[in-house]
Amino acid sequence: MGLYDKYLLPKLLNLAMKAPEMTRLRRELVPLATGRVLEIGVGSGLNLPFYAQQVHVTGVDPSLELQAYAREIAQDAKLAVEFLAVSAEAIPLADNIFDTAVITWSLCTIPDPDAALREVRRLLKPAGKLIFIEHGESPEANIATWQRRINPTWNKLAGGCHLNRRPDTAMLANGFKFAEMTKGYIPGPKIATYSYRGIATIA
Ligand SMILES: C[S@@+](CC[C@H](N)C(=O)[O-])C[C@H]1O[C@@H](n2cnc3c(N)ncnc32)[C@H](O)[C@@H]1O
Repeated sequence: MGLYDKYLLPKLLNLAMKAPEMTRLRRELVPLATGRVLEIGVGSGLNLPFYAQQVHVTGVDPSLELQAYAREIAQDAKLAVEFLAVSAEAIPLADNIFDTAVITWSLCTIPDPDAALREVRRLLKPAGKLIFIEHGESPEANIATWQRRINPTWNKLAGGCHLNRRPDTAMLANGFKFAEMTKGYIPGPKIATYSYRGIATIA
């Protein structure tokens, strides 16, 4: 890992992910988590203040640099959080143990999002739910073209983030169906803000 990825990127990500509309969406969706919660790509912990006090969160993310921020937030929020510094594609936990999974703006970055979603499906109880807020491919052809063009450079600067993934297609392909789904741009450059958010359950 280079100096940019180790020292500067965690600071930039932590700032960029605090955009007001992102915070509004976290506040709207994260409190819907119940019971034992698996957060994939917990990052700097920006969802943690929005969980109900009764939940127990397991936060999965390989970045120890971001985990340092998340630990502080968990402490301030007096929230029980267990951090696992592993990749979402292979989580060393038993099947069917979580009531809720939460993924926000991480399926864009996880190297193998299909494998991560299969893990989420394995770890969720049969009646469990997946709360998601993601960004991805725009339905506008000219924006999608620009997403494809810029993607290789963006990927290097933004810690592996892809502009044009389809989180909805990936969820459907890996054993989920949608209970609720909203699509549309949030404020910001169109190439990075076409959003997919809602709740999926096991198909
Ligand atoms: C754009 S950040 C989003 C962080 C956080 N979910 C949020 O909403 O602020 C993407 C996150 O995906 C994490 N990530 C990258 N590869 C991963 C993997 N294989 N498994 C789990 N998380 C991963 C990164 O470390 C980073 O925290």
